[in-house]
Amino acid sequence: MHPLILAIESSCDETSAALIRNGKVLNNIIASQRIHEQFGGVVPELASRAHQQNIWRVVDQALREANVDVHDLDAIAFTRGPGLLGSLLVGASFAKGLALGLGKPLLDVHHMQAHVLAHFIDDPVPSFPFLCLTVSGGHTQLVVVRNHLDMEVIGETRDDAVGEAFDKAAKILGLPYPGGPLIDRYAQEGNPKRFSFPGADIPGLDFSFSGIKTAFLYFLRDQVAVNPNFIAENLADICASLQRQLVNMLMQKLRKAVRETGIRQVALAGGVSANRGLRAAVHEWTSSENIPCFVPELQYCTDNAAMIAMAAHFKYLAGEFADLTVAPLAGMEMERSSA
Ligand code: KG4
Ligand code: ZN
Repeated sequence: MHPLILAIESSCDETSAALIRNGKVLNNIIASQRIHEQFGGVVPELASRAHQQNIWRVVDQALREANVDVHDLDAIAFTRGPGLLGSLLVGASFAKGLALGLGKPLLDVHHMQAHVLAHFIDDPVPSFPFLCLTVSGGHTQLVVVRNHLDMEVIGETRDDAVGEAFDKAAKILGLPYPGGPLIDRYAQEGNPKRFSFPGADIPGLDFSFSGIKTAFLYFLRDQVAVNPNFIAENLADICASLQRQLVNMLMQKLRKAVRETGIRQVALAGGVSANRGLRAAVHEWTSSENIPCFVPELQYCTDNAAMIAMAAHFKYLAGEFADLTVAPLAGMEMERSSA
């Protein structure tokens, strides 16, 4: 079996298409939507429209660049959820139409599982089991990965995702959406110990980021009342200090998860794993503990169809196909441990 699969990702504000042959990703075409910058967040209706405009183009480009005839595809894959319903519908409908028209099987992919499976795109790949900290704009999860298609969430956020905390803090600072990468950039030149923000005292392996967001808002409101130029004069230190605390909160639970599960192999996934502060903290801790650590290449951290293609490959091998009645799910859950 050497399946050739076309994968489509459209869960949020990236329209992406990728091809995978026999488990090797051939390409990864991404059209990012700049339209949301001016609104300080993704506007769902605008996202759906932009997906509709982009989807033909990215699929066509993926096929042309890899010199693949659409009739040679063995299956069509798409992101079923979680994500914005209107955005998911564009990808799902396109994939279904193509599968129906070509008489090819359909594969539906869980977006968060795909973030984890991005680790199998290139060598070195983790062995099983491993612990994955999946951090994105919509999720913050600690996942025990037992096999490609066997994952269990052992901790997750009770409110905001960590990417959301980055983006909301950036918005408070007057930075455009998505602010996470900008906070990362300014933090490079700042003093991370200049200001301190409160963590969260959540039992077990769950996270909470709503408290730090509120504390950040009040801190700035008070400072700006005294000095209207406070943000401009201290931007790098503010970003570095906030980033340090967010990274500490993630690291604290990651260390706890390693202790409690005994799984001594960790991976980072999702958009926030592009963050330099987080990457450095994980590298530092894992090397001091002699724990193998896996961090995806930058293009596979944020949303992309290559990871959907990778997940689709494993589903194809397992014979887990979808039928044409499959509907996208905005709030698609992963299995969660009862402990
Ligand atoms: O995985 P992703 O592309 O989309 C979702 O599935 O949500 O993650 C997007 C999130 C956004 O919140 C963005 O601000 C954040 O990842 N992000 C970062 C960085 N790059 C992307 N956050 C902090 N530092 C970064 N370098
Ligand atoms: Zn994502």
